[in-house]
Amino acid sequence: MGLTPVHFFSHGSTMMLGEQSESADYWRKCGEEALARNIQGVIVMGAHWDCLGDHIEVATNPNPGKSPVAYVRPDKYIQYELNPDIPTAERCIAMLAAEGFTVRGNPTFDWIHDVYLILIHMFPAGCPPTTIVSMNARYDPHYHVKVGATLRPLRRENYLLIGTGGAVHNLYRNRWAPMLRFRDNFAMETPPEDWALEFRQAVEDVITKTSGPQLRRAMTRLMKHPQFREAHATDDHFMAAMFVAGAMGDWEDAGTAAEMGAESWELTNMCNSQFTFGSWEKEIAV
Ligand SMILES: [Fe+2]
Repeated sequence: MGLTPVHFFSHGSTMMLGEQSESADYWRKCGEEALARNIQGVIVMGAHWDCLGDHIEVATNPNPGKSPVAYVRPDKYIQYELNPDIPTAERCIAMLAAEGFTVRGNPTFDWIHDVYLILIHMFPAGCPPTTIVSMNARYDPHYHVKVGATLRPLRRENYLLIGTGGAVHNLYRNRWAPMLRFRDNFAMETPPEDWALEFRQAVEDVITKTSGPQLRRAMTRLMKHPQFREAHATDDHFMAAMFVAGAMGDWEDAGTAAEMGAESWELTNMCNSQFTFGSWEKEIAV
């Protein structure tokens, strides 16, 4: 068994849950491929759950609820059954603790749309066993790279590691009116602004032109990009990219290709790019 691929997905607005898009088609394709390879489970870091102080948490709620989402018909997600993987959660806690993280389980955490939006599109017929790892609210990029690096060995056991955040994701710079007035999240009355185009290209360049430890350095350095603060008013939706760089940035990963499989612009300035790092060992019909 080789090393299982890793995904960095941009989940976008809540409307991405209920609407069809090229991104949703790509998520479905990635899910089908993962199921065809009999993944052990999914391990995911999102963008909506962080812990204060020195802590990081792993979801251990055996019966999690779903935080409600706006602008989505409830029948798109209410019935979907979540599948928390408590044994793997405990294992992740032990692995992270052994690396020096202050980490604990959270037995009351309800899942949020950053995670279940992706799962519903990837695995519409049923959620695989899934483990959610929180962020730390100091948003230290190197810390989150280390979280990914710590859990990286689970790729060898065919766990699918996913970061769900955003390539360009600044809620303060989005043009919300078409969505609020007409429920049209894909309306684009003008082209995206220069800073959004520039940062989106920087993200694609880093992901598709670097690998291994260079990927880790380049991804963390994106937070010093001149347009970073325009593209991300807050750091939360870029932490999952750090997690992915950690999971994909060992020397052993050097030379591994990554692809941008789809992209959906929303709300004029939000760029939802979808990436896969690495590939399945051999192609099979799915
Ligand atoms: Fe989000």
